Amino acid sequence: MWKEKVGWVALLIIVSSWCVSSSSHSSSSFRGDLSRGKAPLTFGSASSSSLVLNRVGSSVVLPLHGNVFPLGSYNTTIYIGQPPKPYYLDPDTDSDLTWLQCDAPCVRCTRTPHPLYPPSDELVDSSDPICGSLQSGDYKSDCVERCGYEVQYADGGSSRGFLVKDDVHFESNRGRVLSSRVALRCGYNQIPGPYNPCLDGVLGLGKGSSSIVSQLSSQGLVANVLGHCLSTRGGGFLFFGDDLYDSSHISWTPMSRDPYLIEHYSPGTAELLFAGKPTGQENLLLLFDSGSTFTYFSSQAYQALSSRVKEELRRKDFTEAVDDDTLPLCWKGQKPFKNIGDVTKYFKPFALSFALSFNSGGRAQNQFEVPPESYLIISDKGNVCMGVLNGTEVGFQNVNVIGDTSMQDKMVIYDNGRQMLGWESKDCSQLPNSRAFAA
Ligand SMILES: *[C@@H]1O[C@H](CO)[C@@H](O)[C@H](O)[C@H]1NC(C)=O
Ligand SMILES: *[C@@H]1O[C@H](CO)[C@@H](O)[C@H](O)[C@H]1NC(C)=O
Repeated sequence: MWKEKVGWVALLIIVSSWCVSSSSHSSSSFRGDLSRGKAPLTFGSASSSSLVLNRVGSSVVLPLHGNVFPLGSYNTTIYIGQPPKPYYLDPDTDSDLTWLQCDAPCVRCTRTPHPLYPPSDELVDSSDPICGSLQSGDYKSDCVERCGYEVQYADGGSSRGFLVKDDVHFESNRGRVLSSRVALRCGYNQIPGPYNPCLDGVLGLGKGSSSIVSQLSSQGLVANVLGHCLSTRGGGFLFFGDDLYDSSHISWTPMSRDPYLIEHYSPGTAELLFAGKPTGQENLLLLFDSGSTFTYFSSQAYQALSSRVKEELRRKDFTEAVDDDTLPLCWKGQKPFKNIGDVTKYFKPFALSFALSFNSGGRAQNQFEVPPESYLIISDKGNVCMGVLNGTEVGFQNVNVIGDTSMQDKMVIYDNGRQMLGWESKDCSQLPNSRAFAA
């Protein structure tokens, strides 16, 4: 079977205090995560002066390494602690608190590229609002010593640990180092799920107040906006702040206020078009999730898309490659394909179309177009495979998850301040400021 990250998984968060043995309260939520460089920065005295960094008009840009296939994940380097040490973290827009595999000491950790994070001495106590943001419901702790947590993931994995505050360092697009004291999760007991890239932890970019961008924004360091640009050639970049794009060029759509989706980056509902034509699939509930490698459609929409792709291929020299288990649907051509450019002309784009009503009373269609290179991959066997999968099979029910594959070659923007999601087609292989970098 294939391996990929499924970001949006049901889980259970238990906030507990080890100094009292009773009353650990549990609540279910749908926050998902466990699934999951560049020139070194110069630190030192710069980090204290960086707090005067101009709050208007500065963004943090972080290069991303990785790809949809074959790696299945991306990572960015974040420097943490004093003195700052590098960690490779998986950016996840569907989880809030950043976490690191942690030497507290570690009871059980998966393989990491760097030595385990030594937790800072500053513990978050359980009365801190950030500890409260971990739990929903009416949990109260009598223990003030530390904010412990246990997270269970739908894929069978789990993580246990506690919250600390530590210095996190970034470089802004003006070349200055931005340092900030933020809350992090120190996870010292991880039971791994099926997919485990060798990483130090997860960079939490979710909507909640404990996500890294919300924390930086509440300190006045950047606007509460983040975005990413993933290149079909691999790599790309992540950014915090709002001055890397021209808002008038972006297709904006409001974040959904549906209570079922309120904790997620959801553009609400859309209609599925194939090659510009309606497919009969309307009112599809959508979610953007950078923690998911592939895109997942609910069974009916998946059926509609895959049957149209198959229909297009019937008149061409493609046969279904049933012996290729890279992904559920693969096709072989006359001879093995080397790269995606060999096949894009045989496939048509699909699109998700949002109906927008404007104050002026007019209506317009706002489309999220997905070209063939953003829903197909070339397998090791030289076949072409469809990177849109059946979400019903992995338990997503009626939610359609737009994963990394379909967000490639676009700047995707999550504006928490204005509660808007936006996108624009873009060549993501260059860092903004046109500094070339290698993926
Ligand atoms: C993370 O990024 C580094 C480069 O900064 C790269 O060497 C490493 O292979 C990446 N790890 C994963 C699991 O993608
Ligand atoms: C999707 O998965 C569900 C659950 O396994 C299954 O019942 C359904 O037939 C699948 N849909 C398609 C189109 O394969």
